[in-house]
Amino acid sequence: MKVDVLLGLQWGDEGKGKVVDVLTPRYDVVARFQGGPNAGHTLEFGGHKYVLRSIPSGVFQPGGVNIIGSGVVLDPVLFAQEARELEKSGVDLRKILRISRKANLILPTHRMLDAAGEKAKGEGKIGTTGKGIGPTYTDKISRNGLRVGDLENNTGKYAAARDRHLQMLASMGCPADPATLADLEKAWMEAVEYLLTYELIDSEYEINEALEAGKKVLCEGAQGTMLDIDFGSYPFVTSSNTISAGACTGLGVAPGRIGDVYGIFKAYCTRVGSGPFPTELFDETGRKIRDLGHEYGAVTGRERRCGWIDLVALRYAIMLNGVTKLIMMKSDVLDDFPVIKACVAYKINGKETRRVPFDIDAADIEPVYVELPGWQTPMTAVKSEAEFPARFSEYVAFLEKELGVPIAIVSVGPDRTQTIER
Ligand code: GDP
Ligand code: IMO
Ligand code: MG
Repeated sequence: MKVDVLLGLQWGDEGKGKVVDVLTPRYDVVARFQGGPNAGHTLEFGGHKYVLRSIPSGVFQPGGVNIIGSGVVLDPVLFAQEARELEKSGVDLRKILRISRKANLILPTHRMLDAAGEKAKGEGKIGTTGKGIGPTYTDKISRNGLRVGDLENNTGKYAAARDRHLQMLASMGCPADPATLADLEKAWMEAVEYLLTYELIDSEYEINEALEAGKKVLCEGAQGTMLDIDFGSYPFVTSSNTISAGACTGLGVAPGRIGDVYGIFKAYCTRVGSGPFPTELFDETGRKIRDLGHEYGAVTGRERRCGWIDLVALRYAIMLNGVTKLIMMKSDVLDDFPVIKACVAYKINGKETRRVPFDIDAADIEPVYVELPGWQTPMTAVKSEAEFPARFSEYVAFLEKELGVPIAIVSVGPDRTQTIER
């Protein structure tokens, strides 16, 4: 068997959580392969809304196993909060969730280092989620990380990491307050005890054995392709590989084992935090998209920056990921617009290009737009492709032609049921 991968093609918040939840009944295993509590994946069904951060979005559907893979960075405190809430809402989490021993742990001092790093950057700050993601992956790559499996036998690695971090914080002019640190450490240690009540696994074996046994595995991406550490809008990115290759390194799945790659995008585009965004709108239209799309961070509550769909960036993302099926989200947000714009090329120094430039951050990019007539019909109650207004079908056909990949699913509202397969 092969694994299917579902990931974001833009700057995150495309609606990954919703679609993973919808697709889960077709899979035996759902596995997160990168990122951590910087993610906020929203699911809605039965009149309830849930936001998941570290826990895979397959936990609300019966039957399957959910895995927090080795490429993930896990904060025990936030994990415990999230898990306890799920248990309260009736999810028998211990039965369905497994955690990789190789996942790296986020320490309280990683979060302090994240804040200190942002402070040091001043105006040039990344606008991180403040969850300690960058410092934790830095420790992993520099071979200083503390991993979930280390918790099973008290190795003294925690104290060594903490002391190193405290020295770094002092040298950055942001020394940790001892009383605050003591409180945070107490909460962290308690959360570790809770974490250890879950089944820890060697997830690379578990997943490959599942595939050998004919089981179906869905890999759930976090963030989005344009936030990838290697190919995103560097340095305004997250610190992991968000692209499909990240599923191989983050789960121990061989490249030849990748099956379908579901690429999710919004019918427009958003971004949170700093960094380049060529099609960003600073006008009434941008505000209208934000209001109608409720574009505020699922975790941080920050206003999301909004703009038109960027097909240059989407083609790039499709190429990097080997996307086989596209999923278009939040098309209903554009229901009201008489004209919808799509950026088909960039103009840089008077020259048109269809490539994302190396210096996307510094380049003066002028988007080249195609204007399409809006469908101006409410879509949220539409149940099948047969009910699509003609202009909506034209928009879908236009995107498929521009992107060269079929749009397999169209989402017309936040609820599980507002999902149309074509
Ligand atoms: P994720 O991080 O990719 O899982 O996405 P988020 O959960 O951060 O953001 C997506 C937001 O859009 C959530 O509030 C969803 O409930 C909502 N949403 C998802 N699909 C649709 C849709 O088709 N239409 C509308 N209006 N909202 C949607
Ligand atoms: P989901 O999974 C949107 C952004 C942050 C910041 C940059 C680096 O919900 O799509 P980090 O804390 O990772 O070091 O921040 O990446 N970012 C996200 N933006 N959705 C996310 O996750 C994000 N995770 C990180 O805003 O610009
Ligand atoms: Mg999100």
